[in-house]
Amino acid sequence: MAEPSKGIGSRLFIKKSVDRAQREANQHSLKRTLGPVNLVLLGIGCIIGAGIYVMTGNAAANFAGPAVLLSFIIAGTACAFAGLCYAELASTMPVAGSAYTYSYAAMGEILAWTMGWLLVLEYGVAAATVAVGWSGYAKSFLADLGFTVPAALASSTIQSAADATGHLVFSVTDNINLVAAAGIVAVTGLLVIGVSESASVNNVIVFIKVGVLVAFVLAGIGFIEPANWTPFIPENEGGFKYGIPGVFRAASVIFFAYVGFEAVSTAASEARNPQRDMPIGILGSLFVCTVIYMIVAAVLTGIVPYNQLGVPEPIAVAVDRMGMPTFSFFIKIGAIAGLSSVMLILTYGQSRVFFAMARDGLLPRMFAVIHPKFRTPWKGTILLGSLIAIASSLLPITILGDLVSLGTAFAFGMVCISVLWLRKSRPDLHRPFTAPGGAVVPILGVVFAGVMAAPLIIDIVVKATSGDPIPAYILTSYLVLGAAIYAFYGFKNSRIAQGLDILDDNPLPGVLQAQAHGLDEKK
Ligand code: ALA
Repeated sequence: MAEPSKGIGSRLFIKKSVDRAQREANQHSLKRTLGPVNLVLLGIGCIIGAGIYVMTGNAAANFAGPAVLLSFIIAGTACAFAGLCYAELASTMPVAGSAYTYSYAAMGEILAWTMGWLLVLEYGVAAATVAVGWSGYAKSFLADLGFTVPAALASSTIQSAADATGHLVFSVTDNINLVAAAGIVAVTGLLVIGVSESASVNNVIVFIKVGVLVAFVLAGIGFIEPANWTPFIPENEGGFKYGIPGVFRAASVIFFAYVGFEAVSTAASEARNPQRDMPIGILGSLFVCTVIYMIVAAVLTGIVPYNQLGVPEPIAVAVDRMGMPTFSFFIKIGAIAGLSSVMLILTYGQSRVFFAMARDGLLPRMFAVIHPKFRTPWKGTILLGSLIAIASSLLPITILGDLVSLGTAFAFGMVCISVLWLRKSRPDLHRPFTAPGGAVVPILGVVFAGVMAAPLIIDIVVKATSGDPIPAYILTSYLVLGAAIYAFYGFKNSRIAQGLDILDDNPLPGVLQAQAHGLDEKK
């Protein structure tokens, strides 16, 4: 049990002991059932979504042109370094809440809170982003069936358009994206009744979404016009519009496409052989996705000139160019199914981060209240789902996606710093997996997180100073809200600061991660 602390400085940096985190983890003994193939599949299942189906178009059209392929390599490399750090922490502390709990143990409460609040961007806001992409494909699919959803009900209240220098300009409209909100409401319902029930469905969906991309590539190769690939890196037109700055700005956009791979690290306690299989799972899924992404992006920019790809459903546009309506129909169904699964996984991830924070007293207890029948944190999930649905109906994918990439870059940086911190403060801990190369991997992880965040911060600042402050307002309000919740609630109610022991009930089933993805290999 922690001693209640005295000074404000030591109070803010009070730590969760690693032993406490491990005891929480041991409240449910996890079966070690996942092998390397499962882990790679788990990663691919969590990774592929709106990033490739939606963001690639905006990244190519507004920032990188065909050189978006290079952007995928840069973003994938950033994720590989962070992924190795995740694997080390997850094997040491296989607990709910993942990066939030690692920070609590390594760096103390105020940074843990910050991490938890960043994870809201990485999961909750990401779910809203995917919902907006989902609505683009759903609208296009319904139009094929003869149902035209009015634009005012399927597009965001705040709209964005790129100006001549690649900066996005925002405007407020009367629209509201009810289609996106409906997608989140459906996913929330599934999570409330228990994700394990949808495990096999989810497994099939993962298969479908990879199948769609493979089918797109195979069918599309014959329609490529190599002239569309030149110039490979279009000349810079100012700001982040093309050129090398554009390649890096596009990397920060499609960084989003890799969000979710850390789910592999949260399965560390369920891996049969974590030391060997964690790096295989994380790096393997990142590698496979990077290859898929690059091939899809090459085919996409080969079929449609890059400057025509700034649409919500770029793959559908390319398929329509092929003039194969039946194929287009299946591609859209596949995209809708794939994006649905990512919305589910991200909302699930968010509810579990809030669950962990509520159990530590940093958020109201309602986020940890478990439904007696469904065994899910239902109240928190419903509140969360409502907030995500509202965000998805108001904000455009460009703002949402940038917020996700920014939050994720900071979260990754903090995870890498936690590794260094914990190695120094607790060298004695048993680490089933250690990132290789001493401090090199965590340091490069921090550097690459900075490379991902820098274009986003520059963009937000440039916009704010050039009379387009909407993204800066949204980001600032978000940070102020987080600080206020901590100051007025978490600071006072922290169980660790009050010297209270862990809650002695941990009602969530132990193999949620495996069940959630239908990957529980019964041996
Ligand atoms: N990586 C996930 C996606 O692209 C979040 O949708």
